[in-house]
Amino acid sequence: MSASARFACSASKYALFQDWLNVSDSNTETRLAHERGVAAFYGTGLDRVDDDLNWELTYGLWRSASDTYAQAAANMWDELFRGLSLVPGESVVVDVAPGMGKELIHLYEKFRPKRIVGVDLTPQHVVRSNRLIAKHGLSEHIEVILGSGTQIDKLFGKEFATHVICVEGTSQMKGRVEFFRSAKAILRPGGVLGICDATLRRPPGAWLPLVQLAARAWKMPSENILTAPEFAAQLRDLGFNVTTQEIGDRVWAPYCRAKSKEFRSDIGRRGLAQAMGFALINQLLALADRSGTIGYSVVVGKT
Ligand SMILES: C[S@@+](CC[C@H](N)C(=O)[O-])C[C@H]1O[C@@H](n2cnc3c(N)ncnc32)[C@H](O)[C@@H]1O
Repeated sequence: MSASARFACSASKYALFQDWLNVSDSNTETRLAHERGVAAFYGTGLDRVDDDLNWELTYGLWRSASDTYAQAAANMWDELFRGLSLVPGESVVVDVAPGMGKELIHLYEKFRPKRIVGVDLTPQHVVRSNRLIAKHGLSEHIEVILGSGTQIDKLFGKEFATHVICVEGTSQMKGRVEFFRSAKAILRPGGVLGICDATLRRPPGAWLPLVQLAARAWKMPSENILTAPEFAAQLRDLGFNVTTQEIGDRVWAPYCRAKSKEFRSDIGRRGLAQAMGFALINQLLALADRSGTIGYSVVVGKT
């Protein structure tokens, strides 16, 4: 399929997204209002910023003190992808929340699945990802469409995918269980759902207000503040066979250190108000980490 035909296909999927904007039940309205807020949060300032800018969105997995942020991002993707039994030339992957697309290029170049379709709800991310994919000459293998992870069963047919993956998108989803349910609907028998995201190491107790404040600043619905076992239970209830791994030790402290050095560049990318917001979130995350409250999980669910 030519690149232009692919974009035409994306445009029709965009029309579907527009249809969702017209539905009128109150749950959907609440979800859409939240998703518009998330898209505005990520879209801020992007028009000013070059495609080539070295800008990571994941928290990163920091294997050594000398890791750059780009290396830490790649480590995080590898940590998830290598446990998913991807088969070169065969696997069909739906990647929910791929951000600005570097993750998709990494996934293709390292694991060579047959096809990857990204679904992200920030329009600027969709445009930039498809540009990056075209620049790498990979538009025959990878495409990104606009939509919500909670609705992927409406975008893809039953048993479309061998894998559904999501790196740090689930904690911002309003209706996260709907994402799990719709992922199951589009997975083939034996298919795999792979997620990595923030979880709690333990019930937050007195730290709850701090955790809620950080979550709110980060556009995470408070119902997504769960311990890893609670998170896994939501998947088990839907029939997934689940394994989880806690890796927060190699995420939060080095991420907060790296992020604190980015204040100036954040002002350039996002403007002063959002850069100050990031600095505040960073302080909250560092505190939550030192208290032993916040964790980070790699979660694999098999159907
Ligand atoms: C922290 S970024 C992660 C980006 C990417 N996975 C990476 O590792 O670089 C979160 C992404 O999730 C997307 N997102 C949040 N909620 C979503 C949803 N319900 N459906 C699809 N994408 C979503 C945002 O637009 C953003 O691109």
